[in-house]
Amino acid sequence: MLGEMLIRETTEKDWDQIWPIFRQIVAAGDTYGYDVDIKEDDARSSWMQKPPGGTFVALDDRGHIVGTATVHPNQGGNGSHVANGSYMVSPARAGQGVGRALGEYSIDWARTHGYRAMQFNAVVETNERAVALWMSLGFEILTTVPAAFNHPDLGYVGLHIMHRTL
Ligand SMILES: CC(C)(COP(=O)(O)OP(=O)(O)OC[C@H]1O[C@@H](n2cnc3c(N)ncnc32)[C@H](O)[C@@H]1OP(=O)(O)O)[C@@H](O)C(=O)NCCC(=O)NCCS
Repeated sequence: MLGEMLIRETTEKDWDQIWPIFRQIVAAGDTYGYDVDIKEDDARSSWMQKPPGGTFVALDDRGHIVGTATVHPNQGGNGSHVANGSYMVSPARAGQGVGRALGEYSIDWARTHGYRAMQFNAVVETNERAVALWMSLGFEILTTVPAAFNHPDLGYVGLHIMHRTL
């Protein structure tokens, strides 16, 4: 397990430590629908949110970024009270509670910033760790879009739409 962990909102300076985590997870191609060879500028602009969204980092006891998350409106206009969230933990630090801590933080952050629900549009059904984590944080699977994700090893698998009220 990690020792002391701090979660806070990002500053622009954090990107240099976020990018290696983002690049490694996206290059694996098994959890997100980003282009596996996404350019750094495109990654930065999609991950570093502006209000009414937010981007967060988790730091270990040496101040190194070990995970990151974003919250932003899932839709515009009259759908903007539903938040969307995204999460990436350094593969070297997976399974140590960072994802759970970011999940809890982001739910609290979304609630205190006026969002009324949180929805994940595309949780790869074979991503057992993520699905178990989100279920334990109060999300339910509303439906599974069949064969919506082309997993690099498993071929076409479903994408869960997951939801919880705040
Ligand atoms: C999914 C992810 C965010 C989880 O973060 P993490 O720090 O590895 O997860 P945690 O250590 O907080 O574990 C959370 C829960 O996952 C579950 N879990 C852990 N390892 C698991 C495994 N091998 N199989 C199934 N469930 C597992 C447990 O329920 C655990 O709960 P616990 O706290 O009761 O032990 C992280 O692994 C990640 O970034 N993966 C790649 C990107 C990704 O998939 N993002 C989410 C897309 S929806």
